[in-house]
Amino acid sequence: MTLEAEKLMNVPTIPAPATALPPASSEVHVRNMDQYKALYEQSINDPETFFGEQSKALSWDRDFDKVLYHVGNNFSDSPAWFVGGKLNASYNCVDRWALQTPNKVAIIYEGDDAEKGYSITYSELLVRVCQMAQLLQSKGVKVGDVVTIYLPMTPEAVISMLAVARIGAIHSCIFAGFSPGAIKDRVIDSNSHVVITCDKGYRATKVIQTKKIVDEALESCPDVKTVVVINRDPSSPFPQNPERDVIYPDAAASFKSYCAPVPVDSEHPLFLLYTSGSTGKPKGMQHCTAGYLLGALLTTRHIFGVTPDDTLFTSGDIGWITGHTYAVYGPLANGATTVIFESTPVYPTPTRYWDIVDRHKVTQFYTAPTALRLLRQYGHEIIDKYDLSSLRALGSVGEPIAEEIWEWYFNYVGRGRCTVCDTYWLTESGSHLVSSIPGVTPMKPGSAGLPFFGIKPAIVDPVSGHEITERPAEGVFAISQPWPSMARSIFNDYARYQDTYLKPYPGFFFTGDGASIDSEGYIFIGGRMDDVVNVSGHRLSTAEVESSVLDATMDGESMMTECAVVGVDDEITGQALVVFAVCEPWLKDDIASGKKIPQDISIETILIVRKEIGPFAAPRKVYLVDDLPKTRSGKILRRVLRKIVAGEEKQLGELSTLSDPSVVPALIDAVKNQK
Ligand code: PRX
Repeated sequence: MTLEAEKLMNVPTIPAPATALPPASSEVHVRNMDQYKALYEQSINDPETFFGEQSKALSWDRDFDKVLYHVGNNFSDSPAWFVGGKLNASYNCVDRWALQTPNKVAIIYEGDDAEKGYSITYSELLVRVCQMAQLLQSKGVKVGDVVTIYLPMTPEAVISMLAVARIGAIHSCIFAGFSPGAIKDRVIDSNSHVVITCDKGYRATKVIQTKKIVDEALESCPDVKTVVVINRDPSSPFPQNPERDVIYPDAAASFKSYCAPVPVDSEHPLFLLYTSGSTGKPKGMQHCTAGYLLGALLTTRHIFGVTPDDTLFTSGDIGWITGHTYAVYGPLANGATTVIFESTPVYPTPTRYWDIVDRHKVTQFYTAPTALRLLRQYGHEIIDKYDLSSLRALGSVGEPIAEEIWEWYFNYVGRGRCTVCDTYWLTESGSHLVSSIPGVTPMKPGSAGLPFFGIKPAIVDPVSGHEITERPAEGVFAISQPWPSMARSIFNDYARYQDTYLKPYPGFFFTGDGASIDSEGYIFIGGRMDDVVNVSGHRLSTAEVESSVLDATMDGESMMTECAVVGVDDEITGQALVVFAVCEPWLKDDIASGKKIPQDISIETILIVRKEIGPFAAPRKVYLVDDLPKTRSGKILRRVLRKIVAGEEKQLGELSTLSDPSVVPALIDAVKNQK
């Protein structure tokens, strides 16, 4: 075990015992540690009985014949859950509450301008979902078609997702921070013929020309025949294409206020969500209807303790998995109220989150450490004047939560009363894998906690591929049993799914993360083992950024011959991207003759990445260098680059595999000179 792992495992249990903290729910779902243990054991040893029982939380159109079906060993193939069953996700999230409690608020919208917020009840939501569903059907959308949604955090984003699900189509949400190039790739890969977007987005008074961005992307997507445009500001014009565009809500208003949901098979895809992997091409992770929805429902209920009386505020965007599961499907499948927030945590003041919690009596608040790091800089005094007594659980997601941030969150936001649920999971898992359960499992700062029901963690030796069963242990974090909400495939590329998740460690599902586990079974996540970088909780593949740098042109000519992108620590965003690039000979000549200035080329490269992928992917720095550190077989040693940027030149580690060791001092000089 490394020193690092030992250090992590020695973190003491926080002084407040779990039992001293209130459970997250007045209607306690899991009462205590003994009950958690008993349920957990059953979920692992007899998943069919456990999940068969839990599945009663969903409304089914046809009962399933078998809870879990899979061929061969656990992960020789992706499993099928609730085989033979039929259901509809929008019915589960909307109709059953609209029928029981029509006037209950389903969505609280908090706009960029706090004055412009409003609420939507479950019965209103049903009407809007039904009208949008019929509008999509009228444009030819059928069961199994993919509809792309490119919308900011608005009620219409939720309505669109549920409308797509209602007619058995598959939604593919693209984060509204992505640029035209990234949208185009995802629309083409998913074979979408219909895109839902809006005229404009609003962020800290900035007006984003959303429709213009989509139009640019669609110039290279001839198969898109319909663009539904949510017209948010009827008083101001936006670019229109009369042959393709359909304006909402006008076009939806003529449809009936009810249309029946289309029941689909349990395994029918509910959505695709593109995420980054080790290679350049983003993967369309494909989630299914029943297993995913049940995972979202159960984790929201058992971990956050959400009941229909609660108001959950998840700050994560619907363009990422956190928004899907905990801003849309989890809260609505439980009949609760969800807060949809379009702005930033610091607009108009850095108390925006606390103001929302206070005004709407939020019961569960869920955000990422990157936002907490930002807010902590403003001091805790500004939080004190808000009444946060409604809060019962605090969630954190996307990256490890450092101890000082954890303490700040626990003490000043939770006021020592709320469990910090450090939820560990990923796009592929659909819902939480590991977390503390308020009032049930004791918290250990630094640890994400214990596994959720049905999650059987395994620490695998990266070299032998065998599970390490003694405790404590450190290695690759894998899962050794199928769970209902796991992604079933990569869209149109099941072979890639198998290669990425099932084949690296046969018999296990590979998460991509390293982790350690202590003698009590507490899990400490160590971070990605592949070339995925986590910038402000946004997962980016270094390969994706590298390919946009390599595609960059200046004066019509390619700029770079090769490049390497690495993730480095950043105080606010967790990690930031740094690019090392080698210029083409013509550009080197222009620099040497003074025709081009290196700083301009670096800035141009940053702008190109912003434009190609999105502003959130903008590298912090581009270093122009003569060569990259490569092994004799041509593999770039990114570790060396990371250490050099971190100023740890003395700890570069083993360099004997480098084909040309003299590149190292040259790189150190380049970094110093281009500060
Ligand atoms: O490295 C892990 C990190 O985020 C990755 C998943 O990113 P994504 O698919 O975009 O989903 C983010 C939201 C679930 C993981 O492989 N990660 C996520 N949660 C945590 C975390 N790292 C440490 N602690 C966490 N709680």
